[in-house]
Amino acid sequence: MKILIFGDVVGRPGRVAVLERVQDLREQHEVDLVLLNAENVAGGFGVTPPIADGLLRAGVDVMTSGNHIFDKQEVIPYIAAQPRLLRPANYPPDTPGKGVWIGEARGGVRVAVVNLIGRVFMGAADDPFRAADAALRSIPEDVRVRVVDMHAEATSEKSAMGWYLDGRVSAVVGTHTHVQTADERVLPGGTAYLTDVGMTGSYDGVIGMDAQDVIARFTSVTMRRAGHSSGDVRICAALVEVDDGTGRARSISRLSLPHES
Ligand code: FE2
Repeated sequence: MKILIFGDVVGRPGRVAVLERVQDLREQHEVDLVLLNAENVAGGFGVTPPIADGLLRAGVDVMTSGNHIFDKQEVIPYIAAQPRLLRPANYPPDTPGKGVWIGEARGGVRVAVVNLIGRVFMGAADDPFRAADAALRSIPEDVRVRVVDMHAEATSEKSAMGWYLDGRVSAVVGTHTHVQTADERVLPGGTAYLTDVGMTGSYDGVIGMDAQDVIARFTSVTMRRAGHSSGDVRICAALVEVDDGTGRARSISRLSLPHES
């Protein structure tokens, strides 16, 4: 089976690009499952219920997230009732929502998606490695296709997670930096790995946000929240081919596509 994974989708430019292209990409690459990190879809910060519903209707199957998941408070009741929107599994146990989704891909193959968040240069969270072990224990043995979104800043922490889970999951992909890395490979145990899938959104700014706003934040103390930029929209994603029977990855490739509405 084939799994298409969008990294951080930022603001309206990123969202519109996904809405306009996801069906084409599904057909073109014969995709069975579409994942997307939704933590930045609402203006760059958080996700709202109508936006999440729109992405699910458009052909996204499961959304992961990270440190911005609760920026829009209206997501709290939504995530508690919507299993296709995940938050990091290593958040405190009573956090609304879940960090693992188990369900069926389009072709009927059962799959699991796990969302983790890193701790290096990030906010406080429980140990993602032990949380990964617990998440895997919660997945039935016959669910062989397992994908992990490791939302983290540090390359080393993401790479360590790839090796830690090698042979136990089909793929470990990183998100959060918004910059696609060129280190895709299948590790010896059969786990596809990519340090960061990269951003879908506007590249005419600083990781999706208005350059002048971000410069102002670095050069002054009067904090203001940056707006998203809007030009030079690109779609970044990873395409992973997995053997349904064993759950081992056959290949992983990167997509980086210009998008014009
Ligand atoms: Fe993030």
